Order: sequence, then structure tokens, then C-alpha cells
Amino acid sequence: MIRILLSIALIGAALGAATVGILGFQGSMMRKPPFELFPDMDRQAKLRPQEPNHFFANGVSSQLPPAGTIARSEVIHTANGEVYAFEDSPVNTGKVSGTTNFVETNPMMVNEAMLQRGRERFDIYCAPCHGRLGDGNGITKKIGVMAAVANLHDKRIIELTDGEIFDTITHGKNTMGAVGPLLPTQDRWAVVAYLRALQLSWLGTKDDLTPAQQATLK
Ligand code: HEC
Repeated sequence: MIRILLSIALIGAALGAATVGILGFQGSMMRKPPFELFPDMDRQAKLRPQEPNHFFANGVSSQLPPAGTIARSEVIHTANGEVYAFEDSPVNTGKVSGTTNFVETNPMMVNEAMLQRGRERFDIYCAPCHGRLGDGNGITKKIGVMAAVANLHDKRIIELTDGEIFDTITHGKNTMGAVGPLLPTQDRWAVVAYLRALQLSWLGTKDDLTPAQQATLK
């Protein structure tokens, strides 16, 4: 028994010595090209940047983006400076950076042009279900495609944070599908801003008018 074990150990040691003898230690210098059992990804059929390549007419591997290409990293101008699409920022997520809490207010600069844009986008992307007034009586309800569509003037929805509404537009909610893939970030915030204006318009009372305006009321 001992003899068998001993001879196995001896054979093992001899094999090990032979392997190291022929191939050398890992990482040691050699004149001959390395012996590759598994080449892994040492050589790849790829083009290195800034190198000559005869496949393309202009003879270089790095090509300029085709005309009309829109960069994924296009900068977004917010009320607090510039943000890129890949950043963990309220503009992109609707949430306070590094948390799961929704932001209270629209991080974009809200102005008239933005509200106009929001109105246009709302009428295209939201009105078919929620109605142009946002009361949940869009065409899809009338023709019976959607049964219950949220009335955006509900107290609960008025009380949602801007970030949560942005999130609902982006990812959808329950029976409402995601509109995010159809609306770029800036447009989603424009819709949020316009929705706020729409909600406010329903909450208006006589007291919001100037005395002069009140006098003209019938
Ligand atoms: C295809 C129909 C459809 C479209 C388009 C649509 N919605 Fe909705 N939306 C719904 C339905 C249905 C609900 C109710 C979902 C539920 O069952 O809670 C809803 C719910 C909501 C809510 C309430 C979410 C909550 O927390 O309860 C908001 C806010 C909202 N939609 C905003 C929008 C905005 C803004 C747009 C346009 C960008 C839009 N929706 C487009 C169908 C739609």
C-alpha cells in the first residue's frame, strides 16, 4: 500500500518537474512564444482606435458618428446646473440621489416655453386615456379599451410629489403602461409641470382674481 502511494507521489513530482521544465514558471520570461492551451481573449477580432484599417474607405479604424446621431450622453440643463443622462440625479430618476425618496419639486427650470411643450406632449401622450382636462375621460375610456382611468384631479394625485408623478410617467403604474420610452427626460418633466398647472386651474376660486377681474364676473 505504502509503495503504491509512494510511487504515485514520485510520478506526480516527476510530472510536475517535467511540466515546469518544459513550460517554465508562470510569469517568467521566455524567448519562445508562449504555449497556449486556453488562449482566453488574448487575440480579438476587433479594431483598435486610431489605427490604420483598410476596410473603411478613409483607411482608419475610428469612424465619425453618422450624421443625425443623438448622443446618449447629451447634457440636460436643470435648475441646478448640467446633468448627464447616466448620472444618479433627481432629473433622471425623480428621486433624491442615493435614496429611494421621491423629490418634492420639478428639478427643471419651469418657464412658459416648458409649459407649452408640456401641454403639447400631454395632449399627445396622456390625453388619449386621461382626457385633455386630465379628468380620466379620454377616448380610450369612451370606446371601452380602458375601464378605469385615474382622474388626475383626485386629491391623492394632487398630493403626490413631482418625483412620483415623473416616476409614474417613466415606468407606468398598475394598468398604466410606461410612457418613458416615448418621452425624453425633459419632456417628462415638462408634462409634470403642465399637469401641475392643469390641477391648479381646477382649484382656482374667485378669490384668485384681482378685484377688477372679479367685478367683470357675471
Ligand atoms: C393607455 C392609457 C394611459 C396613458 C396613455 C396614460 N395613462 Fe396615466 N393612468 C392610466 C390608468 C389606467 C391609470 C390608473 C392606474 C391604476 O390602476 O392605478 C393611470 C394613472 C396615472 C396616475 C396616477 C398614479 C398613481 O399614483 O395612482 C398619474 C399621475 C398618471 N396616470 C399620469 C399620466 C401622465 C402624465 C400620462 C402621459 C405622459 C399618462 N398618465 C398616460 C392610463 C394611462
